Amino acid sequence: MGQNSRIALIAGDGIGPEVMRVGVRLLEHLRDKKGLPIELWSLPFGAEYWLEYGVGLPDAVFAEIRDTTRAVLLGALGDPRIPGHEHAREILFGLRFGLDLYANVRPVRALVDRHVPLSGRAASAIDICVFRENTEGLYAGIGGQLRRGTAAEVAIEEDVNTRLGVERIVRAAFDYARREKRRLCMSDKSNALRHAHDLWQRVFHAVRSEYPDVPSEHLYIDALCYELVRDPARFSVIVCCNLFGDIISDLVAALGGGLGLAPSASLHLGGTQPGVFEPVHGSAPNLAGQGLANPIAMLRTVGLLAEFLGAPEQRAAIELAAGQALEAGECTPDVGGSLDTDAAGDAVLRRLR
Ligand SMILES: NC(=O)c1ccc[n+]([C@@H]2O[C@H](COP(=O)([O-])OP(=O)(O)OC[C@H]3O[C@@H](n4cnc5c(N)ncnc54)[C@H](O)[C@@H]3O)[C@@H](O)[C@H]2O)c1
Repeated sequence: MGQNSRIALIAGDGIGPEVMRVGVRLLEHLRDKKGLPIELWSLPFGAEYWLEYGVGLPDAVFAEIRDTTRAVLLGALGDPRIPGHEHAREILFGLRFGLDLYANVRPVRALVDRHVPLSGRAASAIDICVFRENTEGLYAGIGGQLRRGTAAEVAIEEDVNTRLGVERIVRAAFDYARREKRRLCMSDKSNALRHAHDLWQRVFHAVRSEYPDVPSEHLYIDALCYELVRDPARFSVIVCCNLFGDIISDLVAALGGGLGLAPSASLHLGGTQPGVFEPVHGSAPNLAGQGLANPIAMLRTVGLLAEFLGAPEQRAAIELAAGQALEAGECTPDVGGSLDTDAAGDAVLRRLR
C-alpha cells in the first residue's frame, strides 16, 4: 500500500489529552485491524511546554510537520494560566497560516433524534457542512492599539479579504456541494460591510454561474442565524468568512447535539500540504481531569482523517458506531449518558471491532 502516512499528534491542554487518548486507540485500531498504513508521532506542545520553554511550536518542528507528515491531529488548546492565548495562537495559527490551510470544514450530522434541541425536529433535519474561510478576515492579525490602557484608547482589527482567498473557499464549497449533490448557501453581511463583503458577493455570483447544477442561495448572516433555528433542514452546505464561520459552526454544532460531537478539518484543498484535524470544541477547563469530556467529536475527527487518507468506508463505520453507542445511551453526561470519557470511547470502539 506504499509508504506509511505519518500523523503528528498534539494533545494540547485541558480535555485535549483525555480525548486524544481515545482518538489514538481508534487510530491504532485502524492501523492494526483495518490496514490503514499510518505511523503515529506524538508531540509535547501545549500550555505546559509553553510555560516551561516559552515556545508554542518550534520552527524546526513546524518544518518537519510540513515536510514529513500527511496530517496533524490536535486535541484542544487553551489554558487559564495563559490568558493571552499566546501558545494556542502560535500552534494553531502557526499551522493554519503556515500551511495555508484555507478551508476549515465542519460537518454536523445529528445522529440521534433526542439530541436535537429544537422541539419536533428529527436528527434527519440536521445535516449541515460549514466551509469556513480559515486564513483571512478578522483573524489575519493586522491591527493595533493606540493609547493602550487610557480612557482615549483606540483598538483596530483589520478585516482582510482577497479575491484569491474568497474565491478558493467559495469554489471549494461548490465543488463539495456538486460532488455530494447538496444545496449551498453563501452568507455575508454585504448590506453593512460594503467593501469587504461586496467582494464576497461578486465572487459568489461569478463562481455560482459555473455551477448551474448546484442549487444555491445567499443570506445575510443575521438572517441565516434566524433561519437555521427556524428551519434547519433548509441548509446543507454553508460557506462564509472566518469570523462568521467560527460562530455559525458552534450554532450548527448545538443543533446537532453539542460541541462534544462536532469534528473539523483544516485543509489546503488541491495541495499537498498536511491537513490539521481537530474537534470543534476547546479545552473545556471546566471539565478537565474529571472524565466528563465526550470523546465522540474526536472519534468523528479521526473519521474525517481516515477519509482524507483515502478510507471513506472507515469514516462511515465510525459514524455508524458512534450513532449506535449514542442511541443505546452509552455515552457521556453532556449527551444524556453516565459513562466517563474512556468508557464512552470503548462503547464506540467495541462496535467497530
Ligand atoms: N481549536 C481550539 O483548540 C479551541 C477552540 C475553541 C476554544 N478554545 C479554547 O478553549 C478554552 C475554553 O473555551 P470555551 O469554554 O469557550 O469553549 P469549549 O469548547 O472548551 O467549551 C464550551 C462548552 O462546551 C462544553 N464542551 C466542550 N467540549 C466538550 C466535550 N468534548 N464534551 C462535553 N462538553 C464539552 C464545555 O464544557 C463548555 O461548557 C479557551 O481557552 C479557548 O480559547 C480552543
